[in-house]
Amino acid sequence: MSIIAEENKATKITARWAVNVTDWRPTHEQYTLALNSIQTEERERILRFRLEQDQKSSLIGRLLLRWLFHTVYRVDWEAIRFGRSANNKPILISPEVNYTHNSGLLSDPKIDFNISHHGDWVVLVSIENFIENRKQNLNVIGVDVMKIEVPNEPISQFFEIFRDQFSEYEYNTIKPPNLSEKEQLQRFYRYWCLKESYVKAIGVGLNMKLSDIEFRLADDELVDDGEDIKSIKTKTQLYVINEPCPEWKFEESYLDQSHCVAIAYYYKQKKIHKSGDDAVTARNTVVGDDDDETLPFKVLDVNDILQYAKEIS
Ligand SMILES: CC(C)(COP(=O)(O)OP(=O)(O)OC[C@H]1O[C@@H](n2cnc3c(N)ncnc32)[C@H](O)[C@@H]1OP(=O)(O)O)[C@@H](O)C(=O)NCCC(=O)NCCS
Repeated sequence: MSIIAEENKATKITARWAVNVTDWRPTHEQYTLALNSIQTEERERILRFRLEQDQKSSLIGRLLLRWLFHTVYRVDWEAIRFGRSANNKPILISPEVNYTHNSGLLSDPKIDFNISHHGDWVVLVSIENFIENRKQNLNVIGVDVMKIEVPNEPISQFFEIFRDQFSEYEYNTIKPPNLSEKEQLQRFYRYWCLKESYVKAIGVGLNMKLSDIEFRLADDELVDDGEDIKSIKTKTQLYVINEPCPEWKFEESYLDQSHCVAIAYYYKQKKIHKSGDDAVTARNTVVGDDDDETLPFKVLDVNDILQYAKEIS
């Protein structure tokens, strides 16, 4: 069995899903079914977590991954098999992904996905990409959700602890005197989510100097109240060791008053070869930018997913 993915778009975000962990209060039977519906090694890993919240969050993440390939790519629940990269990023092992090539494009398609859990939320994002340059394995996506918590120590001391993770520019913009402590904390977590989403997209885990990854925010404060809680910011720019990376896009938003989330993805323009050397570069049909296809996270209910889940032996 193989997956047939959509071919007419160079880059497409196929899922932005969120589940509220605290809202899921499973019966014993539901919890057992959920645990039995994921791969054995993941089940064993999850059962080693001491805290129920950690178990539930990680379990929901695994169910969301299966739900993605079951509903979006129509794969039988039991046929889906995940592994992990050398740095632990979850990857699809089987089935293989086959793409239809009706336009004759030289493409190197790939589906990528990522999970994050913190506080009350688990999120999953996924992307389909058609990258012309096979040498660049950058068809990737990452996500990070953070609960904004007031630290125990004074806020300036708290920022100081993480000083080394930020560039000079970032650190100075976290705590200007015109921002209230709440706003400073919001900005701190905004940067945190951005950095993590990028690190998770490229899958390097902790093996990267975080202060080398610098984000420059447009003049669009991400705030957690009023109507603005629904807004999605897409103008933040990435610089890696002072070099701009315009091909990287970010979507930042709030899931509720105390949880911010960032998605990072590599955004490639698609080359359409009309004939011979008459080639044109088409605007990508995605996501972010001016296309207005940037969508909010869709909140899912775990019990709905469990209706379709199958036990895996
Ligand atoms: C593991 C890490 C990739 C993310 O960890 P995290 O932010 O604590 O946790 P999240 O909930 O966002 O992500 C965890 C999920 O990411 C996925 N993941 C694990 N390793 C990954 C990697 N190398 N790349 C991408 N995703 C990864 C997994 O699905 C994992 O969940 P699971 O183990 O239950 O399946 C790593 O980057 C980390 O620990 N970062 C924290 C470092 C830090 O100090 N950051 C400061 C920012 S200013």
